[in-house]
Amino acid sequence: MKVLVTGASGLVGGDIADAFAAKGHEVIRLNGRKDLDLTDINGTIIRIVSENPDIIVHAAALKDVDEAERNPEYTFVNNSLATRNVALAARKADAAIVYISTDAVFSGEKGSPYHEYDQTGPINVYGFSKLAGENEIKSLCSRYYIIRTGLQFGLKGHPERNMALNLIRRWEKGEVVDAGIDQVCSNTYTHDLAEALVKISLSGAYGTYHVVNSGEASRYEFYKKLCVLAGFSEDLVNPVEAATIKFARRQRYSPLISLTYESLFHEKMPDWQNAAERFMEEYRRNKGEEK
Ligand SMILES: NC(=O)c1ccc[n+]([C@@H]2O[C@H](COP(=O)([O-])OP(=O)(O)OC[C@H]3O[C@@H](n4cnc5c(N)ncnc54)[C@H](OP(=O)(O)O)[C@@H]3O)[C@@H](O)[C@H]2O)c1
Repeated sequence: MKVLVTGASGLVGGDIADAFAAKGHEVIRLNGRKDLDLTDINGTIIRIVSENPDIIVHAAALKDVDEAERNPEYTFVNNSLATRNVALAARKADAAIVYISTDAVFSGEKGSPYHEYDQTGPINVYGFSKLAGENEIKSLCSRYYIIRTGLQFGLKGHPERNMALNLIRRWEKGEVVDAGIDQVCSNTYTHDLAEALVKISLSGAYGTYHVVNSGEASRYEFYKKLCVLAGFSEDLVNPVEAATIKFARRQRYSPLISLTYESLFHEKMPDWQNAAERFMEEYRRNKGEEK
């Protein structure tokens, strides 16, 4: 298959592009705005159609939740309108489309983990912009996969926007990092998301999927686990209420369950603790190779 990945220079898109390439697919990587600005409708359609892909994975977006709240129009243009442009290009190229979405489309008020058939109801600009992207995909494309996931950790992407690598850098300097005790979600290893996404995209079973590492953890519990795995004292993680350190509203409880994926493929997603351990092994391997 010929697979085109937008946001391939990002944390999530990078591992997705690699996962398709490792399975022998031809991969076209669109590496961010310097490569092609997806807010440009004509440029986007011309470029994507000329590549003639079978599958488009649309992983490009702005993910900074506080920045989104400060710049709503800019966020809607980059997350929702750009998605419309990619969806129009997918239509024209007669390609299937895979859209990466988020647990931020939910309010976090349900009180138990969200499945694919739960009612959406974002509480911040980022969540609204990603839900608007889902709606563009649904209204413009018939062969689509919407894949919602939780907080991502992995090695790829712009170093300044990579949460896990930023944390490790701060702990190396002895910094204490604040972490929300009231921000519970499904933390997910980009590698596990990418592997599941490849299977889904080749299945022909179109529709909406939640793909997360199983289990749930507050930001505080998750950071503590990473901190200890990285060889630092857990005292370097400080429990706080999210509202004291964040500008935009955050969901208090937004874990997802991978109901559709696990029912379709008869396999359970690995739990987040195991995923965090594998991430740290990959981090160490990578560091060793850099020396
Ligand atoms: N990270 C998470 O915890 C998380 C959780 C759930 C869902 N997601 C979703 O996963 C997807 C990828 O996120 P990520 O963590 O990989 O983000 P990231 O590391 O910041 O990467 C985002 C990518 O999108 C590109 N991009 C942004 N605006 C663009 C535009 N107008 N035109 C072309 N490219 C553009 C960026 O390139 P340049 O900046 O170089 O232009 C970069 O390649 C997003 O859809 C996000 O909503 C992420």
